[in-house]
Amino acid sequence: MYLIIFISIVSGTFCVYNERALILNSYLSEKFEKNSDRTCPSCKQDCDLLRTTISTLPNLEEAMLGRQEKMQFNTTHYLLQTPIVEPFPKHLEVSIVAMGCFWGVEKLFWKEKGVISTAVGYVAGFTPNPNYEEAYTGQTGHAEAVKIVFDPRVTSFRKILKLFWENHDPTQGMRQGEDFGTQYRSMILAMTPEQREEAIMSRNLFQKELYKLGMGTITTQITPAFEFYYAEDYHQQYLAKRPGGYCGIAGTGAYLPKSFE
Ligand SMILES: *[C@@H]1O[C@H](CO)[C@@H](O)[C@H](O)[C@H]1NC(C)=O
Repeated sequence: MYLIIFISIVSGTFCVYNERALILNSYLSEKFEKNSDRTCPSCKQDCDLLRTTISTLPNLEEAMLGRQEKMQFNTTHYLLQTPIVEPFPKHLEVSIVAMGCFWGVEKLFWKEKGVISTAVGYVAGFTPNPNYEEAYTGQTGHAEAVKIVFDPRVTSFRKILKLFWENHDPTQGMRQGEDFGTQYRSMILAMTPEQREEAIMSRNLFQKELYKLGMGTITTQITPAFEFYYAEDYHQQYLAKRPGGYCGIAGTGAYLPKSFE
């Protein structure tokens, strides 16, 4: 989510921390809180630990506790002026995807014809009602995700899948571009058996296209839907409120075959 690369190991024993690394480190060790210049000359081991930690999902016991209170936020889409919470009109369809920094993902979909509303949130972790600071550490198990409400008479789940596969790199595991950590993993949360089937079919087709480009194996998880925890108000439609905001999602240059559409 942030432009800063979260860790850079300058030499074998030297570590530079950014904001997220500092937050996470306050859970791992005390020494960084005393180190306000964000560098640590003898922290190679901690850097390695940090890198492993943010690439590993916590289990139920390790995950942050969270809270019972639901997030408070404006339920009207900032740009489209439509509701971003259920109940949606019966003729609309919902899908949920995770493909990196949710600001950019949300914008990708709200621009699409036939998309009625979008929202950002946290899915597939253990922590109930997480906040951004918690999700940002990776210790809630959640992925940054976008809920897309669309009109199947105008667009289709296949079109959503096409945008999904062609606009991020689904081979990166616990990372998307310079955004490192489990919260940036790639996921499709199937809301119906039909969505699941189409998601799997599209993955198999897209994998062939990636192999043609010499790229690796898709790490995207296709799972049943999890509870969607809405993110804070200021994250909703973030790039409409702050058009200059940074969010790095980019495709691989592979495309689904025309026959899929
Ligand atoms: C909620 O958002 C809508 C759309 O941007 C806006 O018109 C409305 O004033 C907002 N409501 C509150 C309580 O902030």
